[in-house]
Amino acid sequence: MQPLQLLAWLATGESVSGAALAARAGVTRAAIWKQVEILRGRGVPIEAHAATGYRLPWPVQMLDAGVIRAALPSALARSLGAIEVHGELDSTSSELQRRSGASDLSIVLAESQTAGRGRRGRSWLSPPGMNIYLSCLKRFESGIAGLSGLSLAIGVIVLRALDQLGVAGAGLKWPNDVLVATGESAGAKLGGILVELSGEYQGPCAAVVGIGLNLRLTPALRLQTGQPACDLASLTGGVPPDRNRVAAVLITALAEGLRQFERDGFAAFTADYAQHDLLRDESLQLTGTLGVIHGTGAGIDARGALQVRLPDGSLRSIDSADVTVRRA
Ligand code: BTN
Repeated sequence: MQPLQLLAWLATGESVSGAALAARAGVTRAAIWKQVEILRGRGVPIEAHAATGYRLPWPVQMLDAGVIRAALPSALARSLGAIEVHGELDSTSSELQRRSGASDLSIVLAESQTAGRGRRGRSWLSPPGMNIYLSCLKRFESGIAGLSGLSLAIGVIVLRALDQLGVAGAGLKWPNDVLVATGESAGAKLGGILVELSGEYQGPCAAVVGIGLNLRLTPALRLQTGQPACDLASLTGGVPPDRNRVAAVLITALAEGLRQFERDGFAAFTADYAQHDLLRDESLQLTGTLGVIHGTGAGIDARGALQVRLPDGSLRSIDSADVTVRRA
């Protein structure tokens, strides 16, 4: 029996005895205990009570490709590539990159990732059953040269999806971190976006868009992320939206938004970006290959570069991927 099978059996949030689980799996209760420990080690907070058995502190909706596809607008469902749901992958983005022949707008999701990748070589914590890890392949004829602003546009697309899901209170930190906008968790990370490009500079090319969204994080997982982190549950009164619905809404927003980007470029996203820009008028300290720069956030330009007002009143454009931005 695999740990994810056990997670599926506990998914309702009801208590199930070790004996019942062992009988269902055809293994010993000690074997069940071992799988519980594996899941706990990966961040799933399974509770154990001597009288009633094992339970999750909340119900979990296991991802289901059929349910996700059925929740898409029907025209979109017909025009998309494959939607795959995997129990465990190294990384949904790596999986799509291994599929050189995958059709446009193919989607890969996983319940968990063993080597989830973040920006700048960082890892992305990917416990099973709690969050969303999704990658989408988009092919472009225009070439990589025409894709400036794409990673910021994806941030706008994620915010559009959150709006559709009724999740208010998120914003964007340049270039595309999805953060809590206000309140005591302001600045904590709700999600991350990794866009990886391949192909020709002025010919056919492809983007693998990877999105990680925190739906539920336990206090232990928040500590493990190594940076202030938050989850959608905190913005929605303790119960996050259904995971399959989140996936369907995100896929719909991605497919529509990526086609919009292909047609109209980043210009179609700048107004929405400005609305969610958490750095505008903030006092900033930027560090990177340029050294340390102090200034005030002044929006983005037409290519998606960060505009910073320097103390002498001049504007500086920042587009280096090596720059980190901190509120000073
Ligand atoms: C960041 O550092 O903020 C970007 C994180 C991106 C994580 C997602 S999860 C789905 C996809 N697969 C990966 O390995 N990474 C991205």
